[in-house]
Amino acid sequence: MARLALVTGGQRGIGAAISEALLAQGRRVIASYAGNDAAAAEFTARTGIPCVKFNVADYDSCAEALARIKAEHGPVEILVNNAGITRDAMMRKLTRTWWDEVIDTNLGSCYNMCKVVWDDMNASKFGRIVNIGSVNGQAGQLGQVNYAAAKSGIHGFTKALAQEGARNQITVNAIAPGYVDTEMVRAVPADVLEKIVARIPRGRLGRAEDIARGVAFLTADDADFITGATLSINGGQHMY
Ligand code: CAA
Repeated sequence: MARLALVTGGQRGIGAAISEALLAQGRRVIASYAGNDAAAAEFTARTGIPCVKFNVADYDSCAEALARIKAEHGPVEILVNNAGITRDAMMRKLTRTWWDEVIDTNLGSCYNMCKVVWDDMNASKFGRIVNIGSVNGQAGQLGQVNYAAAKSGIHGFTKALAQEGARNQITVNAIAPGYVDTEMVRAVPADVLEKIVARIPRGRLGRAEDIARGVAFLTADDADFITGATLSINGGQHMY
């Protein structure tokens, strides 16, 4: 049977492109989502990929959802931790609530999701995990102390877990996307975004498919010697 992939935040933006790329690669794919029922229904109708609603920031919600998925479809063998949010503000306006929301959703989710699939991946001696970081976790970004900290944390998390998984053929890698043409980036004020794009050597925003291509590469069955790596896909914006 085809391997089972789970993509968090997998029905919109970069996540949707990842889900579709993995499906095209012959995987069975499930997309998780947090709240947008209409977008999830539209995505399933268009792609045939089932969507499961749960909160990646909440451990119990992840554990409960993954138990249901396992009972219905079997254990998850490919996990893409893509779900993420922004709460951009300069430090003087950054509230503790916005700090917590971003850390819990973007970084805490990696712990929650990896933890609930980890025993099965070790038992089967196969696993592919890709965590979606960010150029702003590598380079920092004004107005994103919370987001940069969470994404930077993802890069460290990835390297540590890769060392633990290696003995059982579990690879753990990160992708650091640059500015990709999604709703999240379109929310950046136009004048600020214009200046950011002017600093991208490739001269354009990324496309969701540019990132999905990297995920398909890193999760291939024969990609088993690539682990602990961070693949930057940013049009040359930051060379790390
Ligand atoms: N250094 C220091 N201060 C600066 C500055 C700089 N480079 N640029 C501006 N400032 C100052 C301004 O002078 C102003 O100060 P005064 O009020 O004293 O004049 C102050 O900063 C502006 O602060 P405000 O809080 O009033 O600004 P704002 O509310 O209008 O907007 C912001 C702040 C929300 C951070 C806005 O600038 C913004 O959205 N920036 C973009 C952040 C960004 O790139 N987000 C990426 C989202 S996409 C993503 O995250 C995906 C990914 O992985 C790449």
